[in-house]
Amino acid sequence: MAKKPLIQAPKGFRDILPENQKYYEFVKQTAIKQLRFSGFKRIDLPTLEYRSLYERGVGEETDIVSKEMFIVDRKSTSEDKEEYVMRPEGTAGVARAYIEHGMHTWPQPVMLYYIGSFFRYEQPQEGRYREHWQIGAEILGAQRASSDVETIRVLWNIFQDLGLDDITIYINSLGCPNCRNNIKNSLKEYFNLNKSKLCTDCKRRLQKNVFRILDCKNQKCRTIAKDAPPILDNLCVYCKNHLRRLFEMLDDLGIKYDLDPTLVRGLDYYTRTVFEVTTGEDKKRQTSLAGGGRYDGLIKLLGGPETPAVGFAMGLDRVVDVLKQRKIKVPDYEKPIVFLAQLGESAKRKSYEILQKLQAEGIPVQATPFKDSLKAQLKVADRLKVKFTVIIGQKEVNDKTVIVRDMKESVQEIIPQTDLITFLREKLNKK
Ligand code: HAM
Repeated sequence: MAKKPLIQAPKGFRDILPENQKYYEFVKQTAIKQLRFSGFKRIDLPTLEYRSLYERGVGEETDIVSKEMFIVDRKSTSEDKEEYVMRPEGTAGVARAYIEHGMHTWPQPVMLYYIGSFFRYEQPQEGRYREHWQIGAEILGAQRASSDVETIRVLWNIFQDLGLDDITIYINSLGCPNCRNNIKNSLKEYFNLNKSKLCTDCKRRLQKNVFRILDCKNQKCRTIAKDAPPILDNLCVYCKNHLRRLFEMLDDLGIKYDLDPTLVRGLDYYTRTVFEVTTGEDKKRQTSLAGGGRYDGLIKLLGGPETPAVGFAMGLDRVVDVLKQRKIKVPDYEKPIVFLAQLGESAKRKSYEILQKLQAEGIPVQATPFKDSLKAQLKVADRLKVKFTVIIGQKEVNDKTVIVRDMKESVQEIIPQTDLITFLREKLNKK
């Protein structure tokens, strides 16, 4: 058995190795393209925030705040009176930034996206990590159902472009301050009657956040939750109209969705629309690939002006797992198209000059100046599966030429060094 290294990454934390980077890059590039098309601008958020941001914003009773937050063990100084935590999610940070930078004075709505890793102290398992990656998008300052549609439309397009066209989007409404109390009361009444059969967590949820009982993974609680009074029955007329308009517009766009009256999501800031995305096989919504919804009260709750908002976040690690399971082919952004090989001291020096020129022209070229043997260099070219290898030796230095070898056709040509860029461009455009 191989000896265990002295120091390993902490439990639930992983290296993303070079062989997996192309999948992550593919998802990021695909998402960025769609987000930019729709007018989203990038924001980078700090990895650490004050603890109160999530306690207030996401909710003290939610799992991610009450059980899963990574608290940074650093004594507070006079300027930092509060504990830092590693960000467990992005929406509260975006809401904080919206207030801090006076974004309510910018043209509304403000449309932002972020890519980064987030931290939750969960029990690690397949698709569940203590550090995971998300791509998130938020529309701040928009109230109508059309903004819900815009978030879902972008998310749908990203999945289509990734080649995952069998996703299911589950949608529900959690109501607004107008109808929330009615919904809560009817759920409380029902679950109180069944209190003795609920798990310990749900007994507490009954007092603190009755919605979360609908989301409990315990089999007994699930059976009871199945017959709970549907949230939709107690929605006010505004929330019902909002949901109806959302469904009509999604129908117009041909975006497929399922109404799931038990979907509640694990964060407290949601109002009205909530949604979650899974793959076709995952009918039980075991591992969501993305989730989101409206949070019309969050910015006010954090001390900002009343600002309705909606957004989503996609779990990069889970999407990458699905792409790999399905053997979906992704582009290799780090793969060179041209390899440059040299033989002899003066050729090596000349090859550096050529390498600089080709790279400045944006031609994806790689060389291994650390190797002297031509055979060893050509082996690397083979392994990289480049289309062309440019070879330069003493004779070519003297003649001011290079040899260009077409790796697939196994033919080679001698061309003047001054023509190399034009020659490669023409060849690459034809391929
Ligand atoms: P969330 O559902 O908690 O929502 O996380 C978003 C996505 O991140 C999930 O659908 C899942 O794919 C991925 N994810 C979450 N936890 C883990 C984990 N431990 N390991 C691997 N992947 C994970 C939010 O965070 C909200 N901020 C989304 C949002 C944006 N709502 C409105 N705007």
